[in-house]
Amino acid sequence: MSIGKKDFLFIIVIFVVFGIFWAISGEEKTKKVPFDDKHRPFYEIMRQTKSKMEADKGCPACHNEQGGVPFPAKHPLKPKDGPMRCLFCHKLIDKYK
Ligand code: HEC
Ligand code: HEC
Repeated sequence: MSIGKKDFLFIIVIFVVFGIFWAISGEEKTKKVPFDDKHRPFYEIMRQTKSKMEADKGCPACHNEQGGVPFPAKHPLKPKDGPMRCLFCHKLIDKYK
């Protein structure tokens, strides 16, 4: 049996799908929210409200560029870009959830 045009397309689709999975798994490597005194309240908020957006509201109190904990220069988003969905990228550490 020879590989026809349709089979070839199918193989490409599989490669694309794996490529997407790979890209998403890369995102997961973003630093997680530490489980320390400063961040523990957010684990509690998430447990109670199940709302990332609710928890996100508290982050800029410390993470800001007006004297708070600065963002790295290469941070993909700056507070001026609008509301920051911190937990969209920085996940909670699974075992403490
Ligand atoms: C009470 C102040 C405070 C609040 C509120 C706070 N942070 Fe932090 N955060 C810090 C400080 C200080 C550091 C750096 C030192 C440390 O890890 O304690 C830090 C570090 C981090 C780091 C880097 C951890 C690492 O491994 O280097 C991430 C990610 C982070 N915070 C995310 C968040 C997110 C997301 C929120 C909101 C859900 C948040 N923080 C709310 C004070 C705070
Ligand atoms: C679009 C995804 C994204 C969003 C949204 C985002 N970050 Fe980040 N953040 C990153 C990436 C990527 C890095 C650099 C890579 C890493 O985490 O090691 C980073 C780095 C950091 C660091 C430094 C970690 C270290 O010690 O190297 C802190 C602190 C941090 N982010 C806090 C926040 C906070 C607080 C918010 C919300 C106000 C936020 N981030 C929103 C993707 C994001």
